[in-house]
Amino acid sequence: MTENTILKIENLNVSFKLNKKIFYILRDININIHKKEKIAIVGESGCGKTTLANTILLLNDEVITDYSGNLEFFSTKGCCKKNKYELIKQHKFLSKDEIKHIRGNHISIIFQDPFNALNPVVAVGKQIDEVILNHHKEYNKKEVYNSTIKLLEMVNLKEPELVYKKYPHQLSGGQIQRICIAIAIANKPEIIIADEPTTALDADLKDSILKMLKDLVDKETSALVLITHDISIIKNYVDYIFILYLGEIIEAGKTIQVFENPLHPYTQFLLSCYVDATKKGKKLPTLPYDPINLYDKNFIFKKCIFLNRCSKKIKKCETLKPEVFKIESQKVKCWLYE
Ligand SMILES: Nc1ncnc2c1ncn2[C@@H]1O[C@H](COP(=O)(O)OP(=O)(O)O)[C@@H](O)[C@H]1O
Ligand code: SF4
Ligand SMILES: [Mg+2]
Repeated sequence: MTENTILKIENLNVSFKLNKKIFYILRDININIHKKEKIAIVGESGCGKTTLANTILLLNDEVITDYSGNLEFFSTKGCCKKNKYELIKQHKFLSKDEIKHIRGNHISIIFQDPFNALNPVVAVGKQIDEVILNHHKEYNKKEVYNSTIKLLEMVNLKEPELVYKKYPHQLSGGQIQRICIAIAIANKPEIIIADEPTTALDADLKDSILKMLKDLVDKETSALVLITHDISIIKNYVDYIFILYLGEIIEAGKTIQVFENPLHPYTQFLLSCYVDATKKGKKLPTLPYDPINLYDKNFIFKKCIFLNRCSKKIKKCETLKPEVFKIESQKVKCWLYE
């Protein structure tokens, strides 16, 4: 941790209690996010990416969720009395207003499905107005409207005055996601979490939306947490990558290093599936099917989480859970690097 750290996630565990069983969804998560840094959380569907985003924003269902570890947010905006929130330790004591203040003003999220993120019966401009007003009660009507128009321009929507009056169903998927990005940046949060922001969009739109998001994040000096199942889309947009596999970070490192020298067998697999011009026409690798129950404590806490799919396993892997090893700036949870 340095003086530029704005989010510190330390030994975080998140479990859900369902039908009298405990599902250990996230285990021993360690991530530091620094001011203006852009990171990606990458992993296949069901590995816990959205749960991690929801945990940072305290959006998990309180009734079924249990936490341990540390999740600390350090505010740099000077708008509230506190400059440090211990989100896991204090979440039960934070008032609704405090949580609302953190969400949107300090940390905001762009959801995977932009259509569900907006209210279908309210004009999109009004929805942006509302977010601005929530955090700028001192603004008059004209100031709010002008701020919204400026945001619509920033997300490259043409004829912003016309777009302001439209309802979500009158806009395309790309336009709606731009509105969601406008909402996320409206109050210049220190951290923007984008949970699969391009999954619902056509292929030709993905790159332009990600480029715009990166440029806006840079301009507003926010940090970005880009969540995706698709490692191929992030290379040009983030400084640091965390590979999540079934609830554990199995590799982390600078983007260039992970792409050039993936260490963990799972990261190597992910990158070997990355279709570029040189691989077109070639058969892509596959992994054997391996259903693991997230309530199976004997497997999850005692063995390598990738064991049954790993073609590089050694004897030790069968009996001991791997530690995290540091190879230059990369970290990898695998016995091959002991
Ligand atoms: N509300 C919930 N109730 C029960 N299980 C859930 C809930 N949300 C997520 N899960 C489970 O938690 C795991 C991680 O899910 P999720 O965080 O949505 O993964 P991802 O975003 O990587 O696809 C999955 O096994 C999923 O089935
Ligand atoms: S610890 Fe062993 S089983 Fe796990 S990824 Fe490394 S080599 Fe494979
Ligand atoms: Mg998800």
